[in-house]
Amino acid sequence: MRVLDLGCGSGRDLASWGVTASDEVTGLDIDDSRLVTAKVRFPNRTYLQGAGEWLPFEDESFDRVISAVALPYMNIQKTLAEIHRILVPGGGLSLSLHLPSFTIAELLHHAIPKPVPTLFRLYVMANGLLFHCTGKTVGFLKGRTESFQTERAMRVALNRAEFVNLSFSRATGSVGETFIVEARKSKVIGSFAADGRTALAYKAERAVDTLGRAG
Ligand SMILES: C[S@@+](CC[C@H](N)C(=O)[O-])C[C@H]1O[C@@H](n2cnc3c(N)ncnc32)[C@H](O)[C@@H]1O
Repeated sequence: MRVLDLGCGSGRDLASWGVTASDEVTGLDIDDSRLVTAKVRFPNRTYLQGAGEWLPFEDESFDRVISAVALPYMNIQKTLAEIHRILVPGGGLSLSLHLPSFTIAELLHHAIPKPVPTLFRLYVMANGLLFHCTGKTVGFLKGRTESFQTERAMRVALNRAEFVNLSFSRATGSVGETFIVEARKSKVIGSFAADGRTALAYKAERAVDTLGRAG
């Protein structure tokens, strides 16, 4: 299976995400300096420098995308559209994200009373609220981006990017409690699914995800 570790940082053991030695892993991160460490730690993987918002890959070139606490630092709507483009029909997306409690803790314990970090954390709070209401994030100065995520916002953003079979759960990671999102690119291509189902089946799949919002 071709797996993209998006926002891979210094590289991590992906066994807890179900990745095995037979999977072909590519890591991508905007920060070249972290990739130097990743290449040493995982010499069998391919590591590339690039941005989640403009993925340097052909359409339908990965079976799965994993992104561990990296989407919170990206323009979420652009990145989800890019992930959707590079996944094969039926391909899987697995994300771990920041809850609002992470941003509140950063503000209270690491920013206040320093003016610039406090201003930035207030932007992150506002961006998280904007994301909650609209499913879209905006950048701060010099294109730096960060937000917290909510289930409501992720449903809106993933539906907009045409992902299906959304599921949400909680986990405890290195940065405290995170929440995990699983989704899938539909198998439908144009009017017909790869398995022969019609667009009606696709609409039914989307309806289940939309109903999940109310449940
Ligand atoms: C909290 S670290 C997580 C790293 C790694 N996934 C892990 O779990 O250890 C977030 C990573 O996202 C990367 N990042 C931030 N913005 C990015 C972007 N627009 N495109 C790609 N990577 C980005 C950062 O450089 C950083 O390595």
